[in-house]
Amino acid sequence: MLNNYSYQAALAASESIHWRVEDIIGGEKRLDFTRPFMPESLAQTEPLTFLSEEEKRILNQIRGNAYLCIFGLVEEFILPFVLDHARPQLRGDDFRVRALLKFASEEAKHIQLFKQFRMEFEDGFGTICNVIGPPEAIAAAILAHDPLGVAITTLHIEWMVQRHYLESIKDDQELDAQFKSLLKHHWVEEVQHAKLDTLMVEALAAGRTEAQIMSGVEEYLEIGGFLDNGLQQQVEFDLSAFEQASGRRLTETEAEEFRRVQLRANRWTYLGTGMTHERVLETLESLTPKARQRVESVSPAFC
Ligand SMILES: [Fe+2]
Ligand SMILES: [Fe+2]
Repeated sequence: MLNNYSYQAALAASESIHWRVEDIIGGEKRLDFTRPFMPESLAQTEPLTFLSEEEKRILNQIRGNAYLCIFGLVEEFILPFVLDHARPQLRGDDFRVRALLKFASEEAKHIQLFKQFRMEFEDGFGTICNVIGPPEAIAAAILAHDPLGVAITTLHIEWMVQRHYLESIKDDQELDAQFKSLLKHHWVEEVQHAKLDTLMVEALAAGRTEAQIMSGVEEYLEIGGFLDNGLQQQVEFDLSAFEQASGRRLTETEAEEFRRVQLRANRWTYLGTGMTHERVLETLESLTPKARQRVESVSPAFC
């Protein structure tokens, strides 16, 4: 074990944070549609030089809405997964039970927060933007995998949130204030999830042979492939939402460029930033160096 994470410390940190969904969105707190919602490093609208500034902003906001939906989706599988992980040892370590239940309850709050923002988005944006789903079907497909593969996927997602916020969002002064506040409040609770999930991965790998660990790693990569298929579909949805919202029909060449740039942007946002996160790689390496090597052999396709 490389870290000094504990259920007790994660619980204490989590109990020191207090925010409610209604503190962040609703009432006077509205989205400002004159602003971008996503940082450029994730949205990657600038390479699409055939778009005007306004069209880039429209696409950026479409990507912001998809971000809400995709996080909504993944949190739908994380919530039952954490509850299932907690349940067999409810009479064990009290800090473990409380930390995991707090983790689950925060994810339930995040699901609601993302839904609330989506409603605000729908109200203000004026065009229906399709998103992959339904969440229950995606959650069921992911949860059908080896729990170790699911736990590594969750670990990837938790650290990915850290990276998005710290590297791209925190110092971006252009973003809409409400959207930035959502990302900040989400991040601050995800810090503890990343640590708890590291403990979950370690617990699920304990007692496994190297071959059994590697089979969990392969299942993580299968889940990644499944999400990647979803992202390809999402790019098509974003393209048609963009054409509808902007009233501009892209030429065949422009549409191809849109697909190429946006698929790369989506892959980096949801797959590359997690797969190459040093904390994810360190945890994999602590299970077996082969696990890290295997993921590192695949990750360039998503960066
Ligand atoms: Fe979350
Ligand atoms: Fe989380």
